[in-house]
Amino acid sequence: MPIVTLKKLIDNASEKKIAVGAFSVGNMEMILGAIRAAEEFNTPIIIQIAEVRLPTSPLKIIGPMMVAAAKNSKVDVCVHLDHGLNYETVETALEIGFSSVMLDGSLLPFEENIELTKKVVSKAKEYGASVEAELGVVGGNEGDGKAHSIKSTNPDDAKTFCEETGIDALAVAIGNAHGHYKVQPELRLDVLNEIKSTCSTPLVLHGGTGITPEIFQECIKTGIRKVNIATASFDAVAKASYETAQSNGNYFTLSQNMADAVYENVKKHIKIFNMENLK
Ligand code: 13P
Repeated sequence: MPIVTLKKLIDNASEKKIAVGAFSVGNMEMILGAIRAAEEFNTPIIIQIAEVRLPTSPLKIIGPMMVAAAKNSKVDVCVHLDHGLNYETVETALEIGFSSVMLDGSLLPFEENIELTKKVVSKAKEYGASVEAELGVVGGNEGDGKAHSIKSTNPDDAKTFCEETGIDALAVAIGNAHGHYKVQPELRLDVLNEIKSTCSTPLVLHGGTGITPEIFQECIKTGIRKVNIATASFDAVAKASYETAQSNGNYFTLSQNMADAVYENVKKHIKIFNMENLK
C-alpha cells in the first residue's frame, strides 16, 4: 500500500468522528508488531518516532525501515516524525520519505512558534507531507530528560495559530502528559471543547499511556482525531524482554516476543479508538 499523509487519515477520522492511533516505534520489531495489528483489523495506522529517541534509533537507519515497512504493508500507513526539535531533523525525515512531520515549538514564544511552524509547513509542502504542531505545553517528558509542567492551550491562540500557519493537526495541552501519570489525570474537556469551537483544525492528544478507555471516548467525542501512544508500547517491549530472559529464551524468541508485545498493545488501542471504522 502507499504511504499516506496524516491529513488523509485525520480527515477520514474527522468525517467518521473517531480517532486514529499514532504508535511510537524504536526498532524493527516494534514497527512489525504495530503494522501487523493494523493489518489484522484492516485499518490504517500511524507509526512515529520522536527526536528524543534518535540517539538509540538513528533517523537515517530506522526512518528508511519505517518507510519500507509502510510501503510493504497491506494497509495505509502514515510515517510521522513526532516532536521534532530541530528544523534539520524535519528536513532529514522529509528526505527519507516521511509523510508527516511535527516540529515542537511549544516552548518558544508564541510568535516564534508561528514563524518556525510556517517554515515547516512550506518545506513539507514541497514533499506533499502533512504537519502537526503543538500549542500550550504537554506535561512530562518524551525521553529520560527534563519533565515539562503542563500549560493549557489557550483556545483563542489556537485559532490564530492554526489560521496563520495552515497546519494539518494541532496537539493540545489539556492536562495530558507524556510517560506515566502519578495519579489518574483529570483532562480539561471544557478547554478541549472551547478549542474545538474556535479552531477547525483536527486536534491531537499526546500522552495516551494511562488514559482510561472512557476518557479516550470522551476526548474523541469532544473532537480529538489523533491519539499518541508511546510509553505503553515501550513498557510492553521491556516486559517481554525481561520475561524472555527469565525463561532462558534465545534471540529469535526475544524478537518474536517484542513484536507480539507491541501487536497486543496496538490491537487494544485500535479497539478503544474504533479504528476498524476508518477503512
Ligand atoms: P505516552 O508515552 O504517554 O504514551 O505519550 C505518547 C506521546 O504523546 C508521544 O508524543
